[in-house]
Amino acid sequence: MRLFARWFAQARRADPVYHNAMTLATVAASGAPSARVVLLKAFGDEGFTFFTNYHSRKGRELAGNQRVALVFWWSPLKRQVRIEGRVTPVSRAESEAYFNSRPRAYRVGAWASRQSAVIASRRALLAQARQAAARFANGDVPCPPHWGGYRVTPTRMEFWTDQPNRLHDRLAYRRVRDGRWTLHRLSP
Ligand SMILES: Cc1cc2nc3c(=O)[nH]c(=O)nc-3n(C[C@H](O)[C@H](O)[C@H](O)COP(=O)(O)O)c2cc1C
Repeated sequence: MRLFARWFAQARRADPVYHNAMTLATVAASGAPSARVVLLKAFGDEGFTFFTNYHSRKGRELAGNQRVALVFWWSPLKRQVRIEGRVTPVSRAESEAYFNSRPRAYRVGAWASRQSAVIASRRALLAQARQAAARFANGDVPCPPHWGGYRVTPTRMEFWTDQPNRLHDRLAYRRVRDGRWTLHRLSP
């Protein structure tokens, strides 16, 4: 986690906007994987936290299978970090605290969008957004019950660095027991 924190800080300096974008892979009940980009909002010894709609495709897949993979590709640094582990939903209080820190328009949007559902048209989406804005016009926008965070507890983390002649560095950490990790260097 200390190495991740160091690389993350360097990535932030190189790309202040999207250094926290990570690919999240989930697995459906059929065994089929799917992947999409989400934003890392917090990390620490307890894991890696992102926020989403619990009724989305990823939310449904995570309800059936907690196992995930995350990938960061920091192009300015020519570094990749791969993380594997299991998700657990964060507490309601933590989801609400983060939700309430977001701009009002984003909070309204969370009520307007049934993430991953088919919609008739962009016009229909904008009409839903207007309805949500009207509904909350005179007050606070609460956190929807279907919106919140997940935390990934890592069991494997791999740090990849580009090196000349395709002889890249790969450092693979695997969590064993009592919070201890093993470290192996892998062939590129
Ligand atoms: C840069 C970037 C950041 C994104 N961040 C998030 C995010 O933090 N949470 C989220 O639910 N979707 C985020 N998305 C949208 C997802 O990639 C995806 O379209 C959405 O979550 C629906 O995925 P699903 O149908 O697999 O559930 C982001 C997309 C991009 C390109």
